[in-house]
Order: sequence, then C-alpha cells, then structure tokens
Amino acid sequence: MKDKLNKIEAAALQSAAEVVSEAELQQVRARYLGRKGEITAVMKGMGQLSAEERPLVGALANEVKDRLEAAFVERQKELRNQAMQQKLASERLDVTLPGRKHRRGSKHPITQVTEEIVAIFAALGFGVAEGPEIEKDFYNFEALNIPKDHPARDMQDTFYVSEDVVLRTHTSPVQIRTMLQQQPPVRVVAPGTVYRRDSDITHSPMFHQIEGFLVDRTVTFGDLKGILTTFVTEFFGQNTAVRFRPSFFPFTEPSAEVDIQCVICGGSGCRVCGQSGWLEILGSGMIDPEVFKSVGYDPELYSGFAFGMGIERIAMLKYGVNDLRLFFENDLRFLKQF
Ligand code: PHE
Repeated sequence: MKDKLNKIEAAALQSAAEVVSEAELQQVRARYLGRKGEITAVMKGMGQLSAEERPLVGALANEVKDRLEAAFVERQKELRNQAMQQKLASERLDVTLPGRKHRRGSKHPITQVTEEIVAIFAALGFGVAEGPEIEKDFYNFEALNIPKDHPARDMQDTFYVSEDVVLRTHTSPVQIRTMLQQQPPVRVVAPGTVYRRDSDITHSPMFHQIEGFLVDRTVTFGDLKGILTTFVTEFFGQNTAVRFRPSFFPFTEPSAEVDIQCVICGGSGCRVCGQSGWLEILGSGMIDPEVFKSVGYDPELYSGFAFGMGIERIAMLKYGVNDLRLFFENDLRFLKQF
C-alpha cells in the first residue's frame, strides 16, 4: 500500500511537471485528487485493511494528498507566470517607433492671401462686408454710374442670368449695398468671387477680388494714396516703389490705377512687366458724386475713395506663380507649397 502511494505521488508529480497549461494541470489534479482520482480510490479502499494498517496508510495517504495539493498550487503559479511572460513578450510595444502621421489639409493660397490683405486693412480700422455673387444689374452697374447703354459695360464681359440679373463682374456692388445700409463714416473691405467671360493664362471666368472703400467728411485723394501706399509696403515689403497712374472708372472721379515696382526684375524690365519695370495691381479713385446720389449720401457733405484688386493677380506676383490656372486645378503638389 505504502509503495503504491509513493508510486502514485511520483507519477502525479511527473505529470504536473510535464503539463504546459493551467487547463492541463487541472486534468492532472482531477486524475489524482478528484472524486474519482487515484488517491481518493486508495482512501476508499482502506476498509479492506487490517486495524493496525489502516491508521498508518491513512496518515500516509493524507500526507501524500497534502504534498500533491501544495505541489499543484506551486505548479499553477509557475504556469501562470510563464503565460504572463509569454504574453508580455508577444505584445511588446516599441514606444520609440515614430507615430503614423495624419495628413492635414491647409488653406488654399487664395484664401491665405485674402486673409492677409483683410488683416492689413483690419489693422487700419476697416471692417469686412460681403455681398451675393448673383447680383441685380442695379447694384453691379446702374448704381455704380454704369447705365444700360454705357460703353463701359463692354469692359466687363458679363454673364447674364436674365435681363436684370448677372453674375457680379466685380466686388464694387458691395459698395452700394453697404452704403445703402450704413451712414458715414464707413470703412469696409469686401472680398469675394467675381465672374467674367474671359479665359486664358492670365484670365479665369471665375476669380476673386477685394474691394475697399472709405467715406467720411473731408476724405481726400491724399488719404487714398496714404492708405494704398501703406497697404503695398505692408504686403509686398517696405522698399516696394508705388506709382499712381491716371485712369478711368465710371464710379470714381478722379481715378487711378496703382502700379508697383516689378517684383520679378526689381524695375529694370522683364517679360512679366513687359519691360516697363511696373506692374498694375489695382484700380482706385474718389467715389463719384453720382454714386453717392444713388445711395442717398449727400455729395456736398461726404467724400470717399474706393479701390478694387484681383486677388489671384496679387497672389501670382507675391509668390512668383506664372500660370493663373494653377490656383484652380487643385493639384496638391502645387497647393502644399503654401
Ligand atoms: N471694380 C473695378 C474693376 O473691377 C475696380 C475698382 C474698384 C476701381 C473700385 C475703382 C474703384 O476693375
């Protein structure tokens, strides 16, 4: 009997050492210590033993049982620890690996330039106004002193939506809308999309302008020159030369176009400036009394100036872009450079 118990103990310990998982260990435990296990069977069979033998074998069986119990607990701890080490090794993270980059979008260069121009005028006290792109003939032309039969309408290659409705050809109608709503003093810039029937390397049927105007008592052409010179030097750099050249617009009198020293050749003459050394960047002038009359401002009391510039053109000059169409093709290789 003693022999048998010792053999069972040795076999049980051997099996426990060989298992590789807790589940297998449970099976071994059941095989020896379970209700139908081998040790249990020995204990059940003790009734056949003599009265002297019984307590000795009983005591030994209990010892073996306790030892196995303890050995299994020990082995279970070992297996658990092994499993944890394996898990840690297989799920190891290299925290020094660089993260995955999210591709971030950016503002379109036209938006960036628009915001930059608006910021310069905001610092000079100008607010921002907007108007509709589908515009009444009245705001786009009539109120700006361009009657139906006026030859200046030919300058603008208009898209007509109907007899009286157009796609606005410039941002100047925002002057009219703003002045009809506000009394002087007004200081406003109005960025936005405009449309003309024109398409080549330097013209797109859809492009952007920013309008600006200021109305108050005693505004002079000197104010116009001061503000626009400040804008040019802020935007293109302190040493950029500016010149005001007489021009004509039906809604300003006198009118002037503003040229800056060519940013490509510095004024010595190149292909971009047509050898003149100058680049036209905007149209401007003192608001015509006829315009004041159409919005109900008293031309005897108020004076003001207005200007309008093409944002694509300004962006091309600032960044040395030679094809206007690049702004509208949305090729990321181009857009990412800004
Ligand atoms: N609206 C004119 C244009 O589109 C520009 C301009 C605006 C000129 C304001 C003078 C005053 O060409």
